[in-house]
Amino acid sequence: MHQAVVTTVAFAVLPFVTAEISWDEAYAKARAAVAKISISEQVGLATGQGRGTCVGNNNPVDSISYRSLCLNDGPLGVSRATAATAFTPSIHAASTWDRELVRQRSQFHGEEAKALGVQVLLGPVAGPIGKIPEAGRNWEAWGSDPYLNGVHSAIAIQEMQRTGVQACIKHYIGNEQELNRTTMSSNIDDRTMHEVYLWPYYDAVRAGATSVMCSYNKLDGVWACENDHILNKLLKTELGFPGYVMSDWGAHHTTVLSANSGLDMSMPGSAYNSSSTLWGAKLERAIRCGKVKKERVTDMALRILAGYYKTGQDGGYPSVDFTRDVQSNHGENVRKTARDGTVLLKNEGNILPLKSPKSIAVVGSGATTAGAVGMGGGSGAARYPYFNAPIDAIREKAATSGGEVAQSETDDPESGASAAKDKDAVFVFLTSFGTEGRDRSSALEPDDKGYDLVQAVAEVSENIIVVVHAVGPIILTPILKLPSVKAIVWGGLPSQESGNALVDVVWGDVNPSGKLVFTIAKDAADYNTKSLPTDDDFSEGLYIDYRHFDREGIEPEYEFGFGLSYTEFKYSDIQISSQARSGPAGGKISPGGQRDLWDEVAKVTARITNAGKVAGAEAAQLYITLPESTDTPRQLRGFDKVFLNPDASATVTFSLLRRDLSIWNAEDQVWTIPKGKIVVNVGASSRDLRLEGVINVA
Ligand code: NOJ
Repeated sequence: MHQAVVTTVAFAVLPFVTAEISWDEAYAKARAAVAKISISEQVGLATGQGRGTCVGNNNPVDSISYRSLCLNDGPLGVSRATAATAFTPSIHAASTWDRELVRQRSQFHGEEAKALGVQVLLGPVAGPIGKIPEAGRNWEAWGSDPYLNGVHSAIAIQEMQRTGVQACIKHYIGNEQELNRTTMSSNIDDRTMHEVYLWPYYDAVRAGATSVMCSYNKLDGVWACENDHILNKLLKTELGFPGYVMSDWGAHHTTVLSANSGLDMSMPGSAYNSSSTLWGAKLERAIRCGKVKKERVTDMALRILAGYYKTGQDGGYPSVDFTRDVQSNHGENVRKTARDGTVLLKNEGNILPLKSPKSIAVVGSGATTAGAVGMGGGSGAARYPYFNAPIDAIREKAATSGGEVAQSETDDPESGASAAKDKDAVFVFLTSFGTEGRDRSSALEPDDKGYDLVQAVAEVSENIIVVVHAVGPIILTPILKLPSVKAIVWGGLPSQESGNALVDVVWGDVNPSGKLVFTIAKDAADYNTKSLPTDDDFSEGLYIDYRHFDREGIEPEYEFGFGLSYTEFKYSDIQISSQARSGPAGGKISPGGQRDLWDEVAKVTARITNAGKVAGAEAAQLYITLPESTDTPRQLRGFDKVFLNPDASATVTFSLLRRDLSIWNAEDQVWTIPKGKIVVNVGASSRDLRLEGVINVA
């Protein structure tokens, strides 16, 4: 095997000077501008004028040289563009557990958006958080954990805005399923709201996000985009969000209630005077008859302009042209992220890395350009500028050592078995596609009768490597029962570099280092949540994904945080220093919530040693367990990935902030560190906890 590639190298990107300025400076400019414009112009800023080249546009204000904003999807690339990069979906990027790859992905993403003229990029996604395994859009976010969503959303926002593009974190809030998404109500208790669903928005506000998109669903019976509690109270007051809230496309329902409840921009809208436009002329009328205060509309305009000035968009911005080729060398980030997010789940008898097999079979439509799954569907998708299919990459790689490749392009079991017979190594491709607008089947089975395909091939071959490309978990138990299945490679959603990423890992040019960002259960019924045909009371509370499996003692097939390597890592020397004191967080409310929420209250270090024979990277994870009296699950509160040559060791470091050790006290409406014993575990997954320490909070 070749040396693995360092996952945290400094990339040779041209240093650019960010034009981003502080909120205070941005507000000063916005105030000066608003003073010069009429109320109709202010309403125009807040009102969409329909789709054009971009998926959304507000109205221009010529007197301040403000052109109509170009708002466009989405979280993995600039949709509608013809020669832009399709980065790996966020769920896959998260499974690298590598902040630097995520950072670089977001920087490149922002640079491309700006070069195409997009001013507001509709991402990142931190909701759905992924409590329902089959939900159609989980793949657009960062895995089934609020902490992970918070960390990566903040990185994405900072990097995009540093390049001059406004980020829009979405979908606020409780939009966990696609079924009946515009009519169902998510009824979330206050503690769960803060500790799970609102959590990443704290990070987003702290990172300076200029916009937030309110979602389609209702909360306690009131639509998100006209919900005073979640917009005015939670987001704008409690979190101190200084930016603007835009409606999801068509999630705006009323002229007056929405304005007074905290909505700032209506999307997509249509002509200003049209009867179907909820704001525009109608909002002007509502002001004239006193139903909406003038100051509220001026506040909308201020917020929208502040975001524009904050990201330096008044300093000359590229025109909108979605035909520009903006890819540069960004495909390299896709390949690195795709392979480092690939998770090796099973590797019996070390069948992988492959040892120059002479005959190979590739079975299943998932290996072909036509049938491969590299991302999900809907507004979170983008066009592939090119697609490197698994079959092409495998053929190319096999040829370098004289290997012959037979293929069965369909999912027909008989044809698969015939291709597989007598081959040294057999790849069987399984997929599970998912899309906006529809949840997957709650049985979590692979597409196209994938179980039958593996079963048929297992009857003729003993060297099966199953590759899964899926938007979320599928149940693997039926195929794990087959002794011929020697390896399972969770290829995730590798986007345009699918084949190369896979080959890098299975031939061992790169040691796999991805880890799951959701739980793969043995049985779909083991998850305690599913997409509902009714309203959802979120009765599972804090206990989603691994937190539920841990509390109930249910053994998953593969737990959150799990992933194998071709080497072995040893954990040692946990050290904890802590100044944590019990009690509520105080301080002034500033963007991102109470100021001292972000104070570091403990630091944890541990030593990781590569005890195997090949180089590789390890994503060490930190979990905390608060005192039992708090009824809180063991939960992720840190991760650090290190690359190590054989025999080398390194220190991983985790910084615990006040919020990380706090619970939301719904009665007193404050984050509080509980008194007592906090257990700190550092390990290789949510269940493979190698080290333990304690913080005693007085
Ligand atoms: C609806 C989707 O929910 C949202 O994510 C997207 O940004 C808008 N459509 C615009 O395409």
